[in-house]
Amino acid sequence: MTLKIGVVGTGNMGADHIRRLSTIIANAQVVAVSDVDTEQAKRMAEVAGRARVHSDGHELINDPEVQAVLIASPGFTHAEYTLGCIEVGKPVLCEKPLAPTAEECLRVLEAEQAAGTRLVQVGFMRRYDKGYRDLKQVLEAGEIGTPVQVHCRHRNASVPESYTTDMGATDSVVHEIDVTRWLLGQEIVVASIFTPRRTSRAHAHLQDPQFFLFETTEGVLIDVELFVNCQYGYDVRCELVGETGTAELPEPAGVHVRRDLRHSVPVPADWRDRFATAYDTEVQDWVDGVRSGEITGPSAWDGYATTAVAETCVRALNEGRRMEVELIARPAFYR
Ligand code: NAI
Repeated sequence: MTLKIGVVGTGNMGADHIRRLSTIIANAQVVAVSDVDTEQAKRMAEVAGRARVHSDGHELINDPEVQAVLIASPGFTHAEYTLGCIEVGKPVLCEKPLAPTAEECLRVLEAEQAAGTRLVQVGFMRRYDKGYRDLKQVLEAGEIGTPVQVHCRHRNASVPESYTTDMGATDSVVHEIDVTRWLLGQEIVVASIFTPRRTSRAHAHLQDPQFFLFETTEGVLIDVELFVNCQYGYDVRCELVGETGTAELPEPAGVHVRRDLRHSVPVPADWRDRFATAYDTEVQDWVDGVRSGEITGPSAWDGYATTAVAETCVRALNEGRRMEVELIARPAFYR
């Protein structure tokens, strides 16, 4: 049976997901799209084939032909649409963040638990990247012993003027927050932010780079350098340090060119380029999970815990001090 999907939000990510659902993903069909920009929605409906256009996201969620929903509208709309999906019992793949505040995330957790079945998956695609999966396997096989530190780098060539300092935590480092929680199987409980000398290449309002230091439940230290105007490309790195060895995220595959006394490898332009295969695997896994009735990807709990850490980062930055993350006890439903 083909899973009939409705997509809310047809901007960069939504368009990317509609293309992948229409060309790469098996057993799925986009039957409806919705965007406040109806012209954009109409263009994407054509890309999808014979998809209906709804001017309102809730109308799409309630469309009887739509069996599952992919939300790719801006973060502030996510909780509202996700709650709408839970209310009518439709599975939902919600792009990150689950919601911009932990309080809104908790409302989703409560609604999903009341529904009594897992309906929500959050779009943390790095968990589907082969490199990160191999890294987790090495750690879990005990090859480097008990982990003690994690070193991460997250660099973008540049960001638009609309990108704010807070978005460093809420939009960019959320990926490191989720993926390190997943790699280690531990929660992040403390956050500190440091602000090095600003690059002259950033917009005047933006603190760039930023340096994040996290502490986990078991005392592992995680550092993340975020540098979103590094100029040279999109560069994501991760090194796990264990008691008996280290393990490093592999570089993305690319042709090595040696000429004129130089050796070069391409650097990805952005996240869509770097994580293209991870997005494909993520969406296929979600479609397969919905069809088989067993969703196993990043849960609403992961969405909540990640937002709680990101929110703490913003407070730590504004107050200029190390701050503890306030997390509720993990409900049995999410264990
Ligand atoms: P975008 O601005 O390109 O697209 C958002 C679209 O949503 C626009 O077409 C806009 O008209 C539409 N929209 C605005 N309000 C709406 C509403 N109330 N209902 C329906 N549609 C509405 O933004 P982008 O980059 O596509 O980001 C969308 C989401 O995807 C964000 O939550 C973002 O954080 C996430 N994202 C995830 C990434 C990942 O790696 N997983 C990467 C980039 C973005």
